[in-house]
Amino acid sequence: MNASLLSSAARVYTPLNALHAHAEQIQATSLADLLGGDDEASQKRSQSLRFSLEAIHIDFSKQRVSERTLSLLTDWARSCRLEEKRRALFAGAHVNASENRPALHMAARWPEQVNPPEGMEEAAAFCQAQREKLADMVQRLHEGQWFGATGQSITDVVHIGVGGSDLGPKLISETLGARPSQQRVGVHYVSSMDGAQLLPLMERLDPATTLLVLASKSFTTADTRFNVRTALAWLSEALEIDVATLCGYQLVGVSTRADKMREFGIPEAHQLEFKEWVGGRFSLWSPIGVSVAMQLGMETFDRLLEGAHSADRHFLETPLEENLPVLMALIGAWNSQFLSIPTHAVLPYDARMESLPAYLQQLEMESNGKSVGLDQKLVPHATCPILWGDVGPNAQHAFYQLLHQGSHTVSADFIAVATREYGSQGPLGESLRAQEHLTLANCLAQSQLFALGDDAIPAVARGQMAQGYRGNQPNSVILLRTLDAFNVGALLALYEHKVFVQSVLWNVNPFDQPGVELGKTLANSLYQTLEGEPVDAPTVYDPGTDALVEKIRAWRQ
Ligand code: F6P
Repeated sequence: MNASLLSSAARVYTPLNALHAHAEQIQATSLADLLGGDDEASQKRSQSLRFSLEAIHIDFSKQRVSERTLSLLTDWARSCRLEEKRRALFAGAHVNASENRPALHMAARWPEQVNPPEGMEEAAAFCQAQREKLADMVQRLHEGQWFGATGQSITDVVHIGVGGSDLGPKLISETLGARPSQQRVGVHYVSSMDGAQLLPLMERLDPATTLLVLASKSFTTADTRFNVRTALAWLSEALEIDVATLCGYQLVGVSTRADKMREFGIPEAHQLEFKEWVGGRFSLWSPIGVSVAMQLGMETFDRLLEGAHSADRHFLETPLEENLPVLMALIGAWNSQFLSIPTHAVLPYDARMESLPAYLQQLEMESNGKSVGLDQKLVPHATCPILWGDVGPNAQHAFYQLLHQGSHTVSADFIAVATREYGSQGPLGESLRAQEHLTLANCLAQSQLFALGDDAIPAVARGQMAQGYRGNQPNSVILLRTLDAFNVGALLALYEHKVFVQSVLWNVNPFDQPGVELGKTLANSLYQTLEGEPVDAPTVYDPGTDALVEKIRAWRQ
């Protein structure tokens, strides 16, 4: 191709070319330039970057975007046929290509009284039936009519699961059930395969009044199988009742594998089922959430689903330009793919959301942490960033130094809650309210400082204050009016849809996780080695691992 043909090819308009060219301009502009000042243009920009959905308000003004950026990004989304793919998702198309199935987690929260989209009807009806069964189980528990093998009423639930079968319910339990007054029964989460989370529970809980919930989509995950085996051994030894009998009274199964639950000895009445088309990390809304319903009551669980459903409707029905998960996704993709920002911090300014970073890590990184596209070709650019984070106010005393003055660029979501409920109007209430303001003030201050850096220092104070704040760290502020079940449900569903939209932009399958499999196989062989059993699969030798095995053996003798 000669030079003139090359340059005309380079000028061909595609949304991606336009975005790359635009990114060069934005890279040369600081957030202080984009955001700063109270002139009309800044006001207008800032106003165009604020969005609300019911009691959730998102401010994108501290992102490195202009109105033009958003318009180019939405063009790009349209060129990826996002609207069509969004409809297909809700209609039960086989969007999970590698596993040849739909992804219909929205059916698990579709209300009975609202007609589901064509294609989702059967799935919604199945979920509704399981929700009714779940509600009956919860009622039986709350009425003190669920008896353990010795005839005593159940008082505590140990939820055993891992990944998507743990993170969602645990997050909701902590977020909405932090105070004992909010809890109908005690719920305790066990996920780690090492048994370490079970040990303290076995000392604290009464085996006669403890119900185990075995939550596993596949019913094969070793982490969960081993924890359940230990928990049943504990009940059996303590109560002097055989495991098979205990399974009939003190074990609930939640899985897609009714056959395996039956084989395990879980009575039909204690089985809750969901289907393969609910991905593990999207399964909070399915019976995987049973422990949340047991802990907080059916009303709260239903509100959680209603909130998520309202986000579904918003995602499905709102034009891309005003669609919150679409905007979250586009801006996230802009940061990682075009501005080359490799990590994203999740910073909740409310300790009740401590587990939100871990939940979103699985949701986003297990979904879109891929580099081979649906066309089987290597994706030639960055996809999902590395997510990490912690409770913001605590993180201020830990890693914010690096974010302000270190050498790494990050993007961030600041998540704050505007109001809380207290019983007291007296000094206690006043003191708690002051803490709320303190937290909100810190959240806003940090978000501003991330964005502006040294430009956050007022002109009159320059020279008197330490400088060197890098700024230009793009961030969104997500404000919830209150931290209630509805709003939390909506927030998590917004993130779910963000993940889907990004998968469309990057042309990857967000609903499988082939990258986690090989580690499990290798661990199985090494487990057999450590147990002194013959290894039944071929292995690859490496001297480092071999020496570690020998060291462990020597120390365990
Ligand atoms: O190892 C990854 C994973 O398959 C996740 O996708 C899933 O959420 C988790 O394990 C638990 O799986 P299961 O619910 O089948 O036990």
